Amino acid sequence: MSVSIKSAKEIELMREAGRLLSITHEELGKAIKPGISTYEIDRLGEEIIRSYGCIPNFLHYNGYPASICTSVNDEVVHGIPSKNRILKEGDIISLDAGLIYKGYHSDAARTHAVGEVSAEARRLMDVTKQCFFEGIKYAKAGNHLHEISAAIQKFAESNGFGVVRDLVGHGIGTHLHEDPQIPNFKPAGRGLKLRPGMTLAIEPMITAGHYAVRWLDDDWTVVTKDGSLASHYENTIVITEGEPEILTIYQG
Ligand code: MF3
Ligand code: CO
Repeated sequence: MSVSIKSAKEIELMREAGRLLSITHEELGKAIKPGISTYEIDRLGEEIIRSYGCIPNFLHYNGYPASICTSVNDEVVHGIPSKNRILKEGDIISLDAGLIYKGYHSDAARTHAVGEVSAEARRLMDVTKQCFFEGIKYAKAGNHLHEISAAIQKFAESNGFGVVRDLVGHGIGTHLHEDPQIPNFKPAGRGLKLRPGMTLAIEPMITAGHYAVRWLDDDWTVVTKDGSLASHYENTIVITEGEPEILTIYQG
């Protein structure tokens, strides 16, 4: 396993890739309301990404047929946009998106409420987002990777939720998926030592019930086995000499 260390110049490009993706997510979030189809969300996402002169990195990745992953309710990740999937009041939808700017990738996910949602759905979304922030408290040079994993797992499980095991976060840079893999649960061993210039996509995938998942017949959509709700929250970050920098949250 080799984990690349990005130069200051590369990080500058990833910062811009992240900023543009952050704005993309903000725009997509505004479009989430009852009556919109997941196909329309994908069309809007691709349009925004291309308007920046960027390339949607999910499109055709291992044959994935769209630019945005749209995962509704019990769908955890990789839901395929469809004209027949119309959002309705009370749904939750995870939007996963990524883009390439001057050869550098960004990757981020947000889960949105469609109108008013149940208290349990709201709590699941809040805890999933907080899992990311609990994890990156340990995303510091000199720490070990699995400290991030353990913190995410601890926060999710202490709130009574499940941590998906079958999918993980990843390094990112000139490729969407680079080493290392970043589980959201504590594996054996402490993992590699974090160093400044490592760029990572940390992405808790959390379920309201059991953590077990299965794949639908489309070979992409991952759903919870027990039908419980799932939430996904992801950012691309860079390890620095001090606090981690979150590249896909831009406060303009
Ligand atoms: N954020 C996801 C990931 O890291 C989305 C990529 S899957 C794709 O795996 F195939 F749709 F691109
Ligand atoms: Co990712």
